[in-house]
Amino acid sequence: MSQHSADPAPNSVASATAVAKRGDWWRDAVIYQVYPRSFADSDGDGMGDLEGVRSRLPYLRDLGVDAVWLSPFYASPQADAGYDVADYRAVDPMFGGLLDADALIRDAHGLGLRVIVDLVPNHSSDQHEWFRRALAEGPGSPLRDRYHFRPGKGDSGELPPNDWESIFGGPAWTRVPDGEWYLHLFAPEQPDFNWNHPAVGDEFRSILRFWLDMGVDGFRIDVAHGLVKAEGLPDLGSHDQLKLLGNDVMPFFDQDGVHDIYRQWRTILDEYSGDRVFVAEAWTPTVERTANYVRPDELHQAFNFQYLSSAWDAAELHEVIDRTLDSMRPVGAPATWVLSNHDVTRHSTRFANPPGLGTQIRTAGDRELGLRRARAATLLMLALPGSAYIYQGEELGLPDVVDLPDEVRQDPAYFRGAGQDGFRDGCRVPIPWTREGSSYGFGSGGSWLPQPAGWGELSVQAQTAEPGSTLELYRAALAARRSHADLGAGEGVEWLKAPEGVLAFRRGEFVCVANTSGESVTTPAHGRLLLASGEIAETGNEAKVPADTTVWWTTAD
Ligand code: NOJ
Repeated sequence: MSQHSADPAPNSVASATAVAKRGDWWRDAVIYQVYPRSFADSDGDGMGDLEGVRSRLPYLRDLGVDAVWLSPFYASPQADAGYDVADYRAVDPMFGGLLDADALIRDAHGLGLRVIVDLVPNHSSDQHEWFRRALAEGPGSPLRDRYHFRPGKGDSGELPPNDWESIFGGPAWTRVPDGEWYLHLFAPEQPDFNWNHPAVGDEFRSILRFWLDMGVDGFRIDVAHGLVKAEGLPDLGSHDQLKLLGNDVMPFFDQDGVHDIYRQWRTILDEYSGDRVFVAEAWTPTVERTANYVRPDELHQAFNFQYLSSAWDAAELHEVIDRTLDSMRPVGAPATWVLSNHDVTRHSTRFANPPGLGTQIRTAGDRELGLRRARAATLLMLALPGSAYIYQGEELGLPDVVDLPDEVRQDPAYFRGAGQDGFRDGCRVPIPWTREGSSYGFGSGGSWLPQPAGWGELSVQAQTAEPGSTLELYRAALAARRSHADLGAGEGVEWLKAPEGVLAFRRGEFVCVANTSGESVTTPAHGRLLLASGEIAETGNEAKVPADTTVWWTTAD
């Protein structure tokens, strides 16, 4: 279990030292994802920024998280909300400057919070200097070898070099005026790097050092499964790429060669003091393949997307929990649980809808039911051994905003949609801090995506000290994780007998029961009631657990 400084340290140097002493802090850490565009806007331009994040760090310290992961804030034309980086060593002016990044990192350390930044190594922006020069110099330029430029197929090269499709829809190739094509697994503004070229590896090792020298505690690696493409860029040979995605190893995803890159990166990280970490965004077909990314000489954590994609269903959850723990144990890595992020419909809205709709949903569903299940799902996640990531706003129980008008949408997938919904804007709406006021306290100049009416009732202000509020539930859960050593730590769970639709497990002095059955159930009361996501009625040694509710008990005094 991590140890935490209860009070902000008097100065950042002292507490940075305190932070550095906590070895293996990440194994059971709760890490809060900040989406800088939508967290807090300090200058009233309607867009969140680093100074906004810095000003709200005390809120995160009080919430009880261990670290913050910041989505990209680098210089970028924002074709994909900053995941199209034009300069990896600069802050985009809309978010501030390097001095703001420095101040944020120092302040976070001063409050005992670690800082993880996003690294986007699969592709750059088409406005990156390398790509612009490669385009300008034309076919045959050695700079083109740093990306995947190819002649087209067909009599006059009018067809793309292979049959790969972009994750955002449409072909994964774009033709440039001189006739060559370049590969982009995402938007055309995001050309893929050629990781066989030594300059690419050199550049990213240097970028890692740049941010490590700035004091960051780690990196979330974007598309960590995509850097290496199969030799010769072979056709996929299927017209149903979307079905294969996530179910199969693809010629452009989860190729074994990516692991050589991470072994090299690990040696760099290990040169630095302070237990710095890598977390992989790696969508692989199975949790077993995800475990390959966290072998002892590679990365530290990898998001468990199989868990994120599971329905609110005891049998399904039981299976994915077991498989996860069984695959992580042999490599000695902790599980990394996550329910929401900036790419998927928030879990409160996913669980408000029938299962089987995927992770991008455009209907509000039954909001009350969704929130009840989301709270229960969070308590279940936080009772599991390992680390957990929470996404800004989930502690407020925010739903996805499903009715954004077309004209405000920015998700590139929305505009290229071919079978994909591209509704990621719905989980990116700026969060409400206050009941009233301009953009509910997000900033003084509106917000880049409109917030729905009534958003103020979900604000931090409205939920603070409000018994039973989702914010107070998160605060209590995170406080309990700090004071009960069995929560988060360890590698396994001891399953207890439970009625159908109910999960029950013991972890040392701690018992968790999650009722997904849709009806209330009576179970033994397993000690002192620690926390519950709904109302629990206890009589003698028994407890009535309502539908869609999770309970924590402890046998400790
Ligand atoms: C994953 C990121 O989380 C997502 O937002 C982005 O669109 C793609 N990678 C491409 O960088």
